[in-house]
Amino acid sequence: MSTVHKSGTFDLGDRSVSRLGYGAMQLAGPGVFGSPKDPEAALAVLREAVASGVNHIDTSDFYGPHVTNQLIRKALHPYPGDLVIVTKIGARRGADGSWRAAFSPKELTEAVHDNLRNLGLEALDVVNLRSMFGVHGPAEGSIEGPLSVLAELQRQGLVRHIGLSNVTPAQIAEGRRICEIICVQNHYNLAHRADDALIDELARHGVAYVPFFPLGGFTPLQSSILFDVARRLGATPMQVALAWLLRRAPNVLLIPGTASITHLRENLTVAELDLPDDAVIALDGIGTHSEAA
Ligand SMILES: NC(=O)c1ccc[n+]([C@@H]2O[C@H](COP(=O)([O-])OP(=O)(O)OC[C@H]3O[C@@H](n4cnc5c(N)ncnc54)[C@H](OP(=O)(O)O)[C@@H]3O)[C@@H](O)[C@H]2O)c1
Repeated sequence: MSTVHKSGTFDLGDRSVSRLGYGAMQLAGPGVFGSPKDPEAALAVLREAVASGVNHIDTSDFYGPHVTNQLIRKALHPYPGDLVIVTKIGARRGADGSWRAAFSPKELTEAVHDNLRNLGLEALDVVNLRSMFGVHGPAEGSIEGPLSVLAELQRQGLVRHIGLSNVTPAQIAEGRRICEIICVQNHYNLAHRADDALIDELARHGVAYVPFFPLGGFTPLQSSILFDVARRLGATPMQVALAWLLRRAPNVLLIPGTASITHLRENLTVAELDLPDDAVIALDGIGTHSEAA
């Protein structure tokens, strides 16, 4: 039986979601480009996630591009009433699969319409503006222009809620002066802890923090401490990494990505995994060590 509900809930805008969700990026082809080798397997992963109680799916129309959203629509439309699909705009793919900024008013507006069409929706639940000042990590630069375009699309009723991704605290503060920001999606996991203070500040404001690469992304987490704790608890290292994130703060929402139904099942049980205090202390040390390194 699924235990997703044991992860607790958090209000994402006006909708309550389980803290344990699913990230759909891995469903596209290699390098998040093109179609998957086995589209039926991808559809099965999506259906099982939702059947297990997941009601928060993270996606983007630039995964594929278009492929991931089309899979979500095929697998799940008409969508269950409690499902919140969070997408992101601000990037586009080059013909070679590269990731490029797409911040012009025309590109942002087209991206919202692409998401609506490919997901089969009349309004998008949540749209994150993905900053591209740095492709691989947050970099300073004003988001006023692109965020104002997104806020206008929200006023037109095409977007219900707005979030930010790959951003600095200064950009979040700038964003808040333009519109309500309900979530922040940045790179964070056991070993990559640059946003520790930010998470706690957002928690004080009731803003969700959604770590991307919760398992290390394209470079899966590797740590002897993590492996030792997992062995002691009879869990996998990835389950321990997710359980640690769930415990990290109540506003942390998980969107682990997988194209494997076996991994999905493992990931969706982590709310049941109790981390003893000494294990948490040991795991907390991983980030400190890697930052020192
Ligand atoms: N805003 C942004 O800029 C941004 C950037 C990247 C990602 N994202 C979002 O964040 C979500 C999560 O990130 P992600 O998918 O890139 O990285 P991730 O969740 O950290 O890791 C995914 C990788 O871990 C593997 N994995 C998953 N569960 C596992 C398990 N139980 N045991 C062993 N390996 C496991 C997956 O391989 P298998 O497929 O073989 O399981 C995949 O290679 C994405 O789906 C996407 O929605 C956002």
